[in-house]
Amino acid sequence: MNGFEINKILGATTGTLAVFLAIHIVADGVFGASGHHGEKPKLAYSLAIEKKGGEKKEATPLPVLLASADAAKGKRLFGACAACHNIEKGAGPSTGPELHGVIGRDIASKGDFSYAGLAEKKSEKWTWENMDAFLANPKKWAPGTAMALKTRKPEDRAAIMVYLNTQSDTPIELPKVAAAEKPAEAEKPAE
Ligand code: HEC
Repeated sequence: MNGFEINKILGATTGTLAVFLAIHIVADGVFGASGHHGEKPKLAYSLAIEKKGGEKKEATPLPVLLASADAAKGKRLFGACAACHNIEKGAGPSTGPELHGVIGRDIASKGDFSYAGLAEKKSEKWTWENMDAFLANPKKWAPGTAMALKTRKPEDRAAIMVYLNTQSDTPIELPKVAAAEKPAEAEKPAE
């Protein structure tokens, strides 16, 4: 091995080392530092959102939401539900029970479907309030239920419910909007 060769080997090693160092620095920048610091703001961000949601005390009352709900929008939103539910009368169960006429009917009352968590609620009806609570968080309202999909926005739930009520032989009345809840411009003389 002559001096030239040793130089070559040293050169190659130093080169490799330099590349390795460069990769290490870049990796540190990408995965190390930014990875660790990136997590905290993300956490704080999601916490802030939740807190904001939890603080929403002056939420629009359900009767007001329903009174202004858009059934056409509800029909569109029902697309996500249609993956598991038939809505046409007599179409029968799919992954979930048929939903024709579900608003106002007894909970878990379809004989051709075997209910999970909802069976516990059999003695109750699908009132507007019950449906709103169920759709907002099925597993919370009916522990053990096989339905997981949450509809988080109150306006979206109202739209879906108003649409469901149109898919019925016996639609039920919308809840009365209490005078105190009425927006001033929507004030109507008492019937
Ligand atoms: C991944 C499948 C799936 C999706 C998506 C789904 N559901 Fe369900 N749903 C179910 C199952 C399963 C049940 C029965 C739950 C039980 O037995 O506890 C159910 C039950 C129900 C019931 C009770 C019916 C009854 O006979 O008492 C209603 C109402 C309902 N779903 C509405 C909806 C709406 C509205 C959506 C869309 C926002 C939706 N579901 C999306 C699977 C689904």
